[in-house]
Amino acid sequence: MSTTPFTALTCPLDGDPLQAESNSWVCPSGHRFDCAAQGYVNLLPVQHKRSRDPGDSKEMIAARQRFLAAGHYAPIAELAASATLTDDTTASHPNANALACLDAGCGEGYYLRKLAGRATQENHPLTLLGLDISKWAILAAAKQDGGGKRPATTCWVVGSNAHLPVPPASLQRVLCLFGFPVYPEFARVLQPGGRIIQIDAGPDHLCELREIIYPCVKTSPDQPAKVPSGFELRHQETLRYGITLDDPAQIADLLLMTPHFYRASPAGREKAAQLKKLALTVDVRLQVLEKFSG
Ligand SMILES: C[S@@+](CC[C@H](N)C(=O)[O-])C[C@H]1O[C@@H](n2cnc3c(N)ncnc32)[C@H](O)[C@@H]1O
Ligand SMILES: [Zn+2]
Repeated sequence: MSTTPFTALTCPLDGDPLQAESNSWVCPSGHRFDCAAQGYVNLLPVQHKRSRDPGDSKEMIAARQRFLAAGHYAPIAELAASATLTDDTTASHPNANALACLDAGCGEGYYLRKLAGRATQENHPLTLLGLDISKWAILAAAKQDGGGKRPATTCWVVGSNAHLPVPPASLQRVLCLFGFPVYPEFARVLQPGGRIIQIDAGPDHLCELREIIYPCVKTSPDQPAKVPSGFELRHQETLRYGITLDDPAQIADLLLMTPHFYRASPAGREKAAQLKKLALTVDVRLQVLEKFSG
């Protein structure tokens, strides 16, 4: 297997390195974080939580898992994997060292599973860390990666993008896909020359669904990429294609996995619930941001 779990975790309470000790991670001061039987660890201290059950709910995660498993966003996963594995700075030695990659806000792990598959096909060694603030997301991700019963491809951690439990300059890639980037923290954990692989919804993303559930749809023009301090924009790309959902359950899953479910009025949700079939535009933007080496 060319992907292995990332292991350089740090204590969320004092930042010291964590050592694996049987079924726990322990820091030199004795803070201990037990691994759940399903194969993940919770490194989100209560003081970093804004609510009792932060992040996406169990129902949202289950809906996203079913929707993504149907393959509707497979081209997005391919785009993310290609951008992650492309390394024009070390093109002559692409397989020399394992690339340390974090998916920050990984959800139920779809994009990391696809990345691990591509890396294995291409014999490209990776160490993988999947982190999300939702324990339901990480539980679902870990269950699909051996569930604690066989060796995992990825280290699965409940944690926050605002306080990543890893040392400075310990990663070469941070993926942030439909997520919540915290650029100063991403800059701290990336090595110089390391890259953020960011994918966000473009202006036309799922516009047909928005036109059904909202009384009035605001179309905002494409914004020029905002480059955060300490980074340069290495690459940007648009991916646009059509999908058709011909099962009301899939339409319901799509609505539930997006913020539209909570933003739409009851009347808007009811209209969506009546749909038997829906043709949709997928429109996303990739940005590859490289941390300055100087
Ligand atoms: C729109 S979902 C995208 C999930 C995944 N990247 C995907 O595309 O399938 C956003 C994810 O970010 C997580 N999240 C929200 N705030 C976060 C934070 N501060 N740190 C880490 N994850 C966060 C949510 O729990 C949710 O799983
Ligand atoms: Zn500690």
